[in-house]
Amino acid sequence: MTGEGRDRIAVSQVKRPVLDTSVAHIARVYDYWLGGKDNFAADRAAGDAALQAYPGLVSSVRANRAFLGRAVRYLAGEAGIRQFLDIGTGIPTASNTHEVAQEEAPTARVVYVDNDPVVLLHARALLTSGPEGATDYVDADLRDTGRVLARAAETLDFSAPLAIMLVSVLHVIPDRDEPAAIVARLMDAAAPGSFLCISHPASDINPAAAEAASRYNALAGQPARLRARAEVERFFDGLELVEPGVVSLPQWRPGSEFEARAHAAAWGGVARKR
Ligand SMILES: C[S@@+](CC[C@H](N)C(=O)[O-])C[C@H]1O[C@@H](n2cnc3c(N)ncnc32)[C@H](O)[C@@H]1O
Repeated sequence: MTGEGRDRIAVSQVKRPVLDTSVAHIARVYDYWLGGKDNFAADRAAGDAALQAYPGLVSSVRANRAFLGRAVRYLAGEAGIRQFLDIGTGIPTASNTHEVAQEEAPTARVVYVDNDPVVLLHARALLTSGPEGATDYVDADLRDTGRVLARAAETLDFSAPLAIMLVSVLHVIPDRDEPAAIVARLMDAAAPGSFLCISHPASDINPAAAEAASRYNALAGQPARLRARAEVERFFDGLELVEPGVVSLPQWRPGSEFEARAHAAAWGGVARKR
């Protein structure tokens, strides 16, 4: 870690998952689908159960990472954003948010937030800011927005525009925890000119995805809730969606014809706060 990036990992006061390798956890299952090594037998069993119902899942997960990269590039490039709050970071992999953002804008500052103990173990790999920017990692639950915002404000300036990234994480927030209210609280704290970026597994693109989710949910500690396009659009209420709106991930500003033709059963979009 260099520059202003700080080697400081705080432990959340809220109740959070302990490292239990006997039950599948979304961060580790997602790592398995991406071909990573930070997963255990229970994660692979849940991951395989889902894949058997919906083999297109791997393509969908890859399309999600590609969407994250394009969205960060757009935000740091065309939109001129220099601060990112990436919530539900995942186990570090290729092209993490700060790497993409700092390629576009070396002064970009990125705060990562996740509540998974395995992600925490790997957080050091996210604290590799270039000398002109900064990165920080916060071990916290997305639902504890007060803590997330307070800790993020130690690195990010909330009086200036920033981008809040909720990429493939809201589906593990059940309706009873009011995900739309969580998103609204986060965006309320953001200055005008800030952006919200969401991707979300879809209930209304490929019917096999629902069967995959139900097989996964039978084995996972934290169930996944697929949502329809209209439900995902509602997370952006009050914001100005940038073109092309909420679309299937490969349709969001694809970099090539090949990328546009990829399969994904997930919705994604980016919107600006006026
Ligand atoms: C499917 S992964 C997505 C990773 C990354 N955003 C991406 O799209 O490549 C979901 C991540 O969200 C994290 N997560 C799940 N529930 C969370 C919560 N309540 N608070 C914070 N992070 C959470 C998981 O630990 C996991 O790392």
